[in-house]
Amino acid sequence: MAVLVPGGAGYIGSHTVVELLNVGKDVIIIDNFSNSKPETLDNIRKITGKDFKFYEMDYADREKLEKVFEENKIEAVLNFASLKAVGESVKMPIDYYINNVSGVLVLLDVMKKYNVKKFVFSSSATVYGEENPIPYLESMPTGVATNPYGTTKIFIEQILKDIYVSDNEWDIAILRYFNPIGSHESGLLGEDPKGIPTNLMPYIVRVACGQLEKLYVFGDDYETPDGTGIRDFIHVVDLAKGHIKALDKLEKEGNGIFIYNLGTGKGYSVLELVNTFMETTGQKVPYEIIGRRPGDIAVSYANVDKAKEELGWVAEKDLKEMCQDSWNYIVKSK
Ligand code: UFG
Repeated sequence: MAVLVPGGAGYIGSHTVVELLNVGKDVIIIDNFSNSKPETLDNIRKITGKDFKFYEMDYADREKLEKVFEENKIEAVLNFASLKAVGESVKMPIDYYINNVSGVLVLLDVMKKYNVKKFVFSSSATVYGEENPIPYLESMPTGVATNPYGTTKIFIEQILKDIYVSDNEWDIAILRYFNPIGSHESGLLGEDPKGIPTNLMPYIVRVACGQLEKLYVFGDDYETPDGTGIRDFIHVVDLAKGHIKALDKLEKEGNGIFIYNLGTGKGYSVLELVNTFMETTGQKVPYEIIGRRPGDIAVSYANVDKAKEELGWVAEKDLKEMCQDSWNYIVKSK
């Protein structure tokens, strides 16, 4: 029995595939390389010394997807095939709703047809919206997202809840990611967005290696100790390991829909991250403070008790390792 991983060549998907192979799972990756590179697949093989099946296709192509389910014995699906740029989603809402929402509906419908009912969904802290108090708890109501990307996550969470109500043979884990950064310690996997990055760490590394002149820090007038935004940065390898624990729970206990925050439970400010990056790597990151970015909230971090109690999972890597590993990947891939 294999685990199907749409989006397995992407940033979080590739790190999770490594962990799946490390625990001895058979893996099938689907990817259309819309925001990833074919070399990543070879790098996964290099890191793990293991092989997997690969289909180059759009995960929402029903005909091809059905073929994948016919050709393989699939026990569970971990879906990473999702568009994820907040700003882009504001400009291209239709693309986001088609890819993220319609796409996942095709996937879930095909899963149902082939009686595969274990599903791990990549959600986001963004579903907590602006109203909930910090730290975020899984039991809080989801809020209103400030952009179409966030709305797709809220919609899909609701769709999954409805599916479970209709048929409680489904085993579903909804994982709400906080701010994943860092990369595999080998430096062979990492985040390399096409075009100018919009997320903080990818922008920092491009400044550090001289591809961009300086970092623009969006606002220093938030109600935080240094005035800059605070986020729960989590090492992507810790995040990937959280998926293994969630899948374990679905396999052993099953029959339920479970929601977990995947974060460290600690918040660091934008300037703390920039300074830790400079100290750890010895690289300079010139920056300029400019106005707030529309849609940003001041502070976001997780309560991580539920994942600890129910999954036995805690994030282990600290901010320095996150910075060092993000930088290693850039050094190695240049
Ligand atoms: N920031 C800057 N300059 C930049 C980029 C970011 O100062 O060039 C600041 C932001 O203002 C924010 C912090 O760095 O305070 C983190 O910003 P990111 O864009 O890296 O991350 P966000 O917290 O805005 O977004 C992330 C994910 C989304 C997710 C969201 C909510 O990228 O997918 O968290 O959980 F929806």
